[in-house]
Amino acid sequence: MVQSAVMGYGVVGSGVVEVLTEHKDSIARRTKEEIGIKYILDIRDFPDSPFQDKFTKSFEDILNDDEVKVVAEVMGGVHPAYEFTKQCLERGKSVVTSNKELVATKGAELLKIAKKNNVNYLFEASVGGGIPIIRPLSQCLAANDVIEIAGILNGTTNFILTKMIRESMSFEDALKMAQNLGYAEKDPTADIEGYDAGRKICILASLAYGKHVYPQYVHTQGITKITLEDVAYAASWGGVIKLIGQVKKLEDDTLDITVEPMFIEKSSQIASVDDVFNGILVRGDSTGDVVFYGKGAGKLPTASAVVADIIDCVKHLNKRKYLDWADGDETIVKPYSETKYPVYIRVEVEDKQNAFNKALELFSNARALVRANAGENELAFVTDEMTVSQQEKSVKAFEESGYKVLSKIRISDL
Ligand code: HSE
Repeated sequence: MVQSAVMGYGVVGSGVVEVLTEHKDSIARRTKEEIGIKYILDIRDFPDSPFQDKFTKSFEDILNDDEVKVVAEVMGGVHPAYEFTKQCLERGKSVVTSNKELVATKGAELLKIAKKNNVNYLFEASVGGGIPIIRPLSQCLAANDVIEIAGILNGTTNFILTKMIRESMSFEDALKMAQNLGYAEKDPTADIEGYDAGRKICILASLAYGKHVYPQYVHTQGITKITLEDVAYAASWGGVIKLIGQVKKLEDDTLDITVEPMFIEKSSQIASVDDVFNGILVRGDSTGDVVFYGKGAGKLPTASAVVADIIDCVKHLNKRKYLDWADGDETIVKPYSETKYPVYIRVEVEDKQNAFNKALELFSNARALVRANAGENELAFVTDEMTVSQQEKSVKAFEESGYKVLSKIRISDL
């Protein structure tokens, strides 16, 4: 029997314990080895839990027990998850995690420590919950040069946008509903401001391009400013608004990597990924487009990915799984101001015709959009490709002419 420990008994941690316990026999058949849970680390008490004999409040119990070979870190947050992970790896224990914040901020360092100590640091559950994406990217698609990865990486915001699109629900009401259903946290900032999706696209980019991409270098914008008017204009344009994490390798070897709401054409496979589902498109030079779809969050889907990593570690005790990237810096990211894309703009105007004439002068090939029940004081249009700095100059000039820009949303080529 190989012993494991679970650090954190929240939603994912309790799911890991449940899956490891309930699937014990089938896992043992596949692994050729039984996997025991020796410790569950949590500062809280769980008097009604059937796992009383396993709970500990002391990390040292896990660290100092040589029988424990694999540790699941499902605590979330950077501290003390980082310190605990580092110490476990240094003591020769493999660590698996669902903690995207830790992988996105400290991944290169922790992978290096794992390599030095001939153990594994695996994080399938950190992106896409139960959807396999880390292994496919690092193994099954390894023969490809990855041209682009793009997708819906956050279930909560996708649920909110779906409610806005399908039921014309306001952002505030949809957020409240997401909170009541347990999708969004009481403090929903990480989801609605795009930070969660940002961490996930950084992990995928680091894996695909071999250098750590840190979230602070990535333009990250959430969905808090999206209105029902924008949703209606997206429909009249022939698409929907989705929060997209995207990375593309450019000719100069820098990365165009962003998280922002985008107009997506209805015909795109990503456009029909709705509710709390995630969808991730990987464009390989040999495979073409490969799309991964499924539940990107939740107790059992995420636990399923964590347990798969535990199994992989047990199968590779004293052996390394090839999963690695080097440290990176801001030079690998193309400055956002130089990024080029077509854009949708919505403006408050006094006189529509004059405003549109000005838009024709300032923006590349402005084409007006129409929507039902648009007020007299509203103009919306889409443009051809412009760099962000050109867009900003044009917006400034537009505003100096007396027109107030209310929305500006990227138009995707997905
Ligand atoms: N808050 C995340 C989401 C959970 O809504 O997708 C999974 O990372």
